Amino acid sequence: MINPLRGMKDLTFEEAARFNHIIKTASTIAQRYGYGYIETPILEETALFKRSVGDSSDIVTKEMYQFEDKGGNDVCMRPEGTAGVVRAFISAKLDRQPVKQKFYYYGPMFRYERPQKGRLREFHQFGCESFGEGSVYEDFTVITMISQIFEALGIGYDLKINSLGCPECMPPYRNNLVGFLTDIKSDLCEDCNRRIDTNPIRVLDCKNEKCQSMLATSPKLINNLCDACNTDFKKLTAMLDNAGIAYEVDTNLVRGLDYYNKTAFEFVSSEIGAQSAIAGGGRYDRLVEYLDGKPTPAVGFAIGIERIMELVKMPELQREGYYMGAMVPEAIEKVIALANTKRKRDKVTVEYTSKGFKSHMKGVDKSNARYALLIGEDELKNGTVWLKDMESKEEKTVLVDDL
Ligand code: HAM
Repeated sequence: MINPLRGMKDLTFEEAARFNHIIKTASTIAQRYGYGYIETPILEETALFKRSVGDSSDIVTKEMYQFEDKGGNDVCMRPEGTAGVVRAFISAKLDRQPVKQKFYYYGPMFRYERPQKGRLREFHQFGCESFGEGSVYEDFTVITMISQIFEALGIGYDLKINSLGCPECMPPYRNNLVGFLTDIKSDLCEDCNRRIDTNPIRVLDCKNEKCQSMLATSPKLINNLCDACNTDFKKLTAMLDNAGIAYEVDTNLVRGLDYYNKTAFEFVSSEIGAQSAIAGGGRYDRLVEYLDGKPTPAVGFAIGIERIMELVKMPELQREGYYMGAMVPEAIEKVIALANTKRKRDKVTVEYTSKGFKSHMKGVDKSNARYALLIGEDELKNGTVWLKDMESKEEKTVLVDDL
């Protein structure tokens, strides 16, 4: 028997319904905020992710599904959605148009991580990317939109925010941090030691308890922001306060992808174990330019669908459509013809085997149909059907032509 690969899952029945409910809810809300659907390829040139997510990030160094295709191209299954959407934005020359563009997407992402609860190798994200709006109002709006999505899905969360500064305040801070880290080098883990040279900011995010205790007194970027970044961050927190959206400023929140600047955020849940991040995002004002487009400010986020599937409260299933069946074999084809006509507007479940009344009524309950429609000998003869509304319990005989 062939099983799915480690860290990959099939989705059926109840789980599939949950998945679709999340996508539908999030898409509806994104559309209200002016986002249009975008679909980009799952396979892209490896260089795209190296340049955007970052050469020294864990995703690029350890987790990519990267291979040479039959034409000798170095390709990669997307580990995240932002890079592809930015590439598509530039490919379509939208960076040359003065209009602001907003896109939402959902689909599979691939990261060769060690699978555990809440961490898959193939997982799904719902994401949004807003291009052309440099104002912190857009950061606030994006965070508000995510909180609305979670509210609509009945999910509780904690929000963590930070500012990662800009090309003016980040480099001097980075130098300062490297100085601090070099002094405590011998107390930091192997990964952190490597990162001091390759990506010192990521040290702040280390999960090792000893490293975290050593970092308690590290310089914080939030206290060293330039005036512009500081003003924006203050505006963002004031607006969140006014909107009643609770948050915690987490000075060690740096995100695992290198393209961010200014606002960075993560939504976490305390109800799903160690892999608690349910959404993450932030501003990435330099990425479009970095991928050879015209400088375009941007902000976005992605929600991890599998992680929130565990938390979503599903709306109660409503009875819907028809269950149709025959009580004599000669009526079956009549039932099928009727079902196919009704299907132009309604959901119909058809039983192909002629059965007794009780047996059909069991089928009606299983299919969760609103109406039971049966044809027996008399109905066949008279050109009628027996119809029951399973909600009002009303039963009647109706002419086929009046259906
Ligand atoms: P990310 O934080 O890497 O951000 O991923 C977003 C979400 O995807 C996480 O919060 C988590 O819920 C889910 N996720 C990540 N890895 C896994 C995994 N191995 N298994 C299950 N779920 C996972 C991004 O990917 C950015 N592209 C977000 C973004 C969009 N930033 C700006 N625009």
